[in-house]
Amino acid sequence: MLRPNCHYSELKDTYLFYNISQKIKTYQSDNPGKKLLRLGIGDVSLPLCGEVIKALHQAVDDQAVKETFHGYMPECGAPFLREAVACHYAGRGVSISPDEVFISSGASDELGDILDLFDRDSPALVTEPAYPAYVDANIMAGRKIIHLPAGQEEGFVPAPPGMETADILYICSPNNPTGAVFRRDQLESWVDFANKTGAVILFDAAYEAFIEDSSLPRSIFEIEGAEKCAIEICSLSKTAGFTGTRLGYTVIPKRLERCGMNLNEMWVRNRTTKTNGVSYIIQKGASAVFTEEGQRQISENILKYKRNAGIIMNALDEAGVWYCGGRNAPYVWMKCPGYDDSWEFFDLLLNEIQVVGTPGAGFGECGEGYFRLSSFGSRDDTAEAAERMLRLLGK
Ligand code: MLT
Repeated sequence: MLRPNCHYSELKDTYLFYNISQKIKTYQSDNPGKKLLRLGIGDVSLPLCGEVIKALHQAVDDQAVKETFHGYMPECGAPFLREAVACHYAGRGVSISPDEVFISSGASDELGDILDLFDRDSPALVTEPAYPAYVDANIMAGRKIIHLPAGQEEGFVPAPPGMETADILYICSPNNPTGAVFRRDQLESWVDFANKTGAVILFDAAYEAFIEDSSLPRSIFEIEGAEKCAIEICSLSKTAGFTGTRLGYTVIPKRLERCGMNLNEMWVRNRTTKTNGVSYIIQKGASAVFTEEGQRQISENILKYKRNAGIIMNALDEAGVWYCGGRNAPYVWMKCPGYDDSWEFFDLLLNEIQVVGTPGAGFGECGEGYFRLSSFGSRDDTAEAAERMLRLLGK
């Protein structure tokens, strides 16, 4: 008799964002006339920029003509896009070669798939508060998870543990959900730790485009020694509005080896077996992001989201509520004023002012008592949500 993966029974009943979307559905069917303001899941609201749209149209036309038509794409990514990404890194002083870049259909898929590289007996350490998919993907794989929490006192940036604990280390900077960004010296200590213990860092850089402080690292590969201990996972979802278009990229240095095995070569082996590449059309659209004009256009959109974050932060300042994030990140992480239970605070905002956010408890135990607001909504909705919150919080 077939035995299903028993580790699924160790998961929470529903995934955080699915759970929230179900609560919203129920609320809307009970309250059909009420307008909801969504500052919950980090889904973008601005359309793709003009350069990307132009490239997508051109790529569709290419597929209509025998001479320019593409069938299967190279499994690890189209050379034109791998080169564009490597060039983008070079522009920031980070030297990687195109064959160290792997094109994926998005960071969330890749964060789960990449676990194929590691033995199931290798424990994973998750720095928390954390994007819940890290934990769920490792539970599904039957892997032991070590939770490393960091609180307000540490600025939500944990330092490496004092002893050898895990083989896979998750770091997300700028952090989802707290918006905290690891400083250079903090990342250096993680890279030293990984190189000393033989662990591998999975560095989630999905929000790097939001960093405006030039002293803060946007890539783990800005840190010396990271090429021997880190994999970086990036996404165009938030950088360029690709949440519904889907494209990400992963950097695996050729110098990354463990037990005589080369992880870059292993990933080539994995991808050539498990994928037939990302669609030509989408890769063409993505390549437009890395042109000069594409970069100019996406930064205009990022600026609009940052203004939204500013609106949220001003309201919280006025209400005298503690928060962090929002400056080098699209998320504002606030303390639930007068509430220890972040799901209760979620219900309060939903029922009283129809504002949707994300309860901190969904990101690990140390997120309890906090609440995440996303800046990816429209300007009008964000401004209205900020006003309603100010009213509710007694100002
Ligand atoms: C979030 O809201 O945390 C993100 O949008 C989720 C994701 O990127 O999958």
